[in-house]
Amino acid sequence: MNVMAIEGGLPLYGEAEVHGAKNAVLPVLSAALLCPKATIRSCPLLSDVWAARRILEHLGCKVSMADSERILQINTSSANGYGVPESLAGEMRSSIIFLGALLARWGKAHIALPGGCRLGPRPIDLHINGLRQMGVRIIEQEGGLICSVDGTLKGADICLRYPSVGATENLLIAASLAKGITTLRGMAVEPEIDGLIDFLNRAGARIYRKEGCLCIEGVEFLHEVDYTIIPDRIEAATYLSAAAATGGEITLKKVCLPHLDAVLPVFEEMGCTLKTKQDEISLSAPKRLSPIHSLSTAPYPRFPTDALAPVMAASLLADGASRFEELVFQSRYLHVNQFEKMGANVHMEGRTALVNGVAFLRSARLHCTDLRGGAALVIAALAAKGVSFIDELQHIYRGYDDMPAVIRQLGGKVWMISSGSIETGEKERKKEGFSNLGYAAGIPLAQTQGVL
Ligand code: EPZ
Repeated sequence: MNVMAIEGGLPLYGEAEVHGAKNAVLPVLSAALLCPKATIRSCPLLSDVWAARRILEHLGCKVSMADSERILQINTSSANGYGVPESLAGEMRSSIIFLGALLARWGKAHIALPGGCRLGPRPIDLHINGLRQMGVRIIEQEGGLICSVDGTLKGADICLRYPSVGATENLLIAASLAKGITTLRGMAVEPEIDGLIDFLNRAGARIYRKEGCLCIEGVEFLHEVDYTIIPDRIEAATYLSAAAATGGEITLKKVCLPHLDAVLPVFEEMGCTLKTKQDEISLSAPKRLSPIHSLSTAPYPRFPTDALAPVMAASLLADGASRFEELVFQSRYLHVNQFEKMGANVHMEGRTALVNGVAFLRSARLHCTDLRGGAALVIAALAAKGVSFIDELQHIYRGYDDMPAVIRQLGGKVWMISSGSIETGEKERKKEGFSNLGYAAGIPLAQTQGVL
């Protein structure tokens, strides 16, 4: 199993490009099922994307990827399946996002449901209630849904009690080929939703906003489409947090600045200087960050829950106390106990976390708990003194396209080693009494550099 080794204490400097957004590409891959062909550009190389690809191939689609150009080609002319088994649904947290497309294409769907996840229960009542209003018969069985429609989906007036991103996406996709008009109120308005609407409209759907609603005029069919995924605002927030945490100065290119409106003021509150230009943002951090008075997460356009953990990592060394409140998911603090192994001072109370900045963080062996928590551990390791080791990296691979390469491009010292070499290294170090940075757990850095 691979382990990420990070030599911390070095400011990040340099430039990097932001990739296509994980939370934009997944609903688009589902909606692609409604088109004869789709070309998806800026497709990030993520394990969640490979999981979605396996679902499309299981359904009979032909999918090819030119890795080097991050272009995915999907041909659905041979598609014939309407079932997503547990073996595939379980690989991708958000496989429920295929439900609307299966119903729009076939009028039926059998979809296994992965249980709750590390962030807490992931209910789907909003998806189910909305689809039932469109005429879908849904039998909820242990571990999955059996769905069918007499004839075609029907347009409906749907009001969501909570602006669920996934429910909005499922209903949007289903309504694209429904008979009649669907209006959605109380829907999510994240940039990834706009991306999905853009994809569907380019494929011939008729979706527009009217008096605060989303209106979807069902059409007979969608046609071939060529689409570029929007930039990943959470990836941008993550690397800005890493630069802030290490007192560095970086420039991120290919960002969509309006998508960061709720995030950038937080870095300014921490004492960072920001410069923006078209699709670029530069951040220059002070030697020591100021604390964040109070930060609560909420649906867009407020501060995104996915950026909480990375920004919290940057606050660990701030000069004072920072207060965080997670109001979207039940638990977004699974990574905090890993912070505490590094000497961080975090006091938890329900959905609130109080971070008292410390003078320094010590390196440690860390275990990723979830996607954004894992990214937060990388940031803390970059800010810590010494060499840290991070495992359970499968969480990070879900949502960050080649993170080690981006960090190295920004001047960070990160390399991949096998977990076994840490154990041997530890024995060697104790035997030979190495304790300084030159021997991270007894592994001569020179031997591990460039192992990436
Ligand atoms: C999407 O998840 C994202 N995932 C999440 O990103 C993101 O954190 C979340 O939206 C909020 O922005 C993808 O896009 C693949 P929700 P989703 O439905 O659609 C409750 C990451 O780290 N709810 O908006 O699952 C739910 O319990 C991931 O990139 C219901 O009660 O989020 C939660 O408390 C994590 N009933 C809240 O709404 C429902 O039917 C937000 O969920 C659906 C949701």
